[in-house]
Amino acid sequence: MRRLLVTGGAGFIGSNFVHYVLDNTDDTVTVLDKLTYAGNRASLAGLPEDRFRLVEGDICDGDLVNSLFDEHDAVVHYAAESHNDNSLTGPAPFIQTNLIGTFTLLEAARRTGIRYHHVSTDEVYGDLELDDPARFTESTPYNPSSPYSSTKAGSDLLVRAWVRSFDVQATISNCSNNYGPRQHVEKFIPRQITNLIDDVRPRLYGDGLNVRDWIHADDHSSAVLRILDAGRIGETYLIGADGEKTNRQVIELILDAMGKSRDAYDLVNDRPGHDRRYAIDWSKLHEELGWTPQYSDFSTGIVDAVRWYEENENWWRPQKAATEKKYAETGQ
Ligand code: NAD
Ligand code: TYD
Repeated sequence: MRRLLVTGGAGFIGSNFVHYVLDNTDDTVTVLDKLTYAGNRASLAGLPEDRFRLVEGDICDGDLVNSLFDEHDAVVHYAAESHNDNSLTGPAPFIQTNLIGTFTLLEAARRTGIRYHHVSTDEVYGDLELDDPARFTESTPYNPSSPYSSTKAGSDLLVRAWVRSFDVQATISNCSNNYGPRQHVEKFIPRQITNLIDDVRPRLYGDGLNVRDWIHADDHSSAVLRILDAGRIGETYLIGADGEKTNRQVIELILDAMGKSRDAYDLVNDRPGHDRRYAIDWSKLHEELGWTPQYSDFSTGIVDAVRWYEENENWWRPQKAATEKKYAETGQ
């Protein structure tokens, strides 16, 4: 039994990880979360009180972070400003949370010597051409495009430096695009599903041919747990599940699942600097730690995601209008 501290555990991937850990281990979990617009207490409702607690607070608060590190055996760091579109209209909180927040955690990890796992994204590597046979590997050079991905890249580099200079007991994972329950309606898949529930046509940026490499959030969780248990200190592991799809292919699956015509979507203004394609080579994680994803059928996963948003309108409805108001300002 381990006492785990999970930052950002009220967000999409963090909350799925918390559920996964409580369902599959004997560990206890404390979530440290600022409950920004992206954090939702409802995502953690009903968890066992003897094994779970939520602390509302900021990862940039050194005193709070230090006191929590003293009470835990390991930290998994998910907290971030996570949305590319927001980083283009207002980058300041990305600098604060993703860089200063990670620095604050690393200093506490250095002082206490506890195990630290840093959750990051494949977007640190920039993008690939559509016709390029290459996929990202752990040795692909960093080349981030957006304020979001550059602050994630900077946070990864801080971790590497704190490992080398101060022997911090850290690992890093860089994962591809996640889907699953409890994802904020600002993100592509939930936005389109909830638009369709509201009889609004889905909106694809640019030509809709950008490719993302999709993975179910539970597969991301099982990979992070595996790295926490068996990963080598100082190493980076890429996490993916061979899920490359164009945005058009994704929207067609959603339209099919919701009984609508496959061409019932619109192309809108492109995202500035929009990365063309991401693709992950996850062979290191497989060969070194024996990890394999369990959700191989993306179309079934999409049907499940549609059903989740249809059945949990009370979870997403409070954020929908404000999210669409922001998009209206950029014509998206
Ligand atoms: P999210 O936006 O859904 O959740 C982020 C959480 O962090 C929220 O609960 C928010 O309240 C909390 N938070 C933000 N600032 C904070 C602060 N200063 N102090 C404490 N808590 C704070 O994000 P997500 O999509 O779940 O992503 C989680 C992590 O996974 C991020 O580090 C992201 O870079 C990484 N990641 C995401 C994806 C993806 O597809 N969404 C893919 C790979 C990696
Ligand atoms: P998003 O969910 O924002 O994730 P990321 O930017 O981290 O990949 O977007 C996924 C893809 O969907 C990306 O190519 C942008 C595109 N997209 C749309 O076409 N329409 C939308 O309304 C949104 C939110 C995203």
